[in-house]
Amino acid sequence: MTVCAIIGGTGLTRLDGLTINTARHFDTPYGAPSAPVLHGDYAGREVLFLARHGHPHRIPPHQVNYRANLWALREAGAQAIIAVNAVGGIHPAMGTGHFCVPHQIIDYTSGRAHTFYEDELEHVTHVDFSHPYDAQLRNKLTAALDQERCGYSSHGVYGCTQGPRLETVAEIARMERDGCDIVGMTGMPEAVLARELALPYACLALVVNPAAGKSKGLITMAEIECALEEGMGQVKAVLAHVLEG
Ligand code: HPA
Repeated sequence: MTVCAIIGGTGLTRLDGLTINTARHFDTPYGAPSAPVLHGDYAGREVLFLARHGHPHRIPPHQVNYRANLWALREAGAQAIIAVNAVGGIHPAMGTGHFCVPHQIIDYTSGRAHTFYEDELEHVTHVDFSHPYDAQLRNKLTAALDQERCGYSSHGVYGCTQGPRLETVAEIARMERDGCDIVGMTGMPEAVLARELALPYACLALVVNPAAGKSKGLITMAEIECALEEGMGQVKAVLAHVLEG
């Protein structure tokens, strides 16, 4: 059986129902991960869990040590990674509460430590990243979303912005022209670091607000928190199905 790791994003700093066997503190060549890596059982399966923003939530998206997180998960024995991300909806289909299993990503971040190959002096390495998400894991996610009868899109382009501020209306309009369907702040460099470590990786994105300019009002933390609270039960059920499957 593949040992799957779950990276919990905003609203998922804990995985209720996880029976924890160990909570391991790692010290990687890149520093400390966001939180101890939990090893335990969820839905009757062995699983690893890491809170991307720490537990409690305290690390903003641009300050997450993505390299340490991915390194620690591999050290802990992860063979595949499912990332949970809260996102804003750009495409009209991506309303609040909708799920998306993106198939592509565009990176708008800057200044993040985004590679394990920084100091390669002898061999310059360029990983293939044509298809950033693992097809098999994506299929498992969509099958689980079907089982849970969630509203979802089986494809989508995730635009990853730097944050921590939200976007301007013009930025979202540009992202829409670029082909982005959803917008978040944590999809990169996480996805590429998983690829550099040859770890299959997929994303379960929950839309928690219409992106800037996509609704009449301004974006409030209260609406995001409310959508997170409403959606996390489904997220946990979907994760359970993925692990069982
Ligand atoms: N923009 C960027 N990241 C997000 C958003 C958004 O509107 N909502 C949740 N994460």
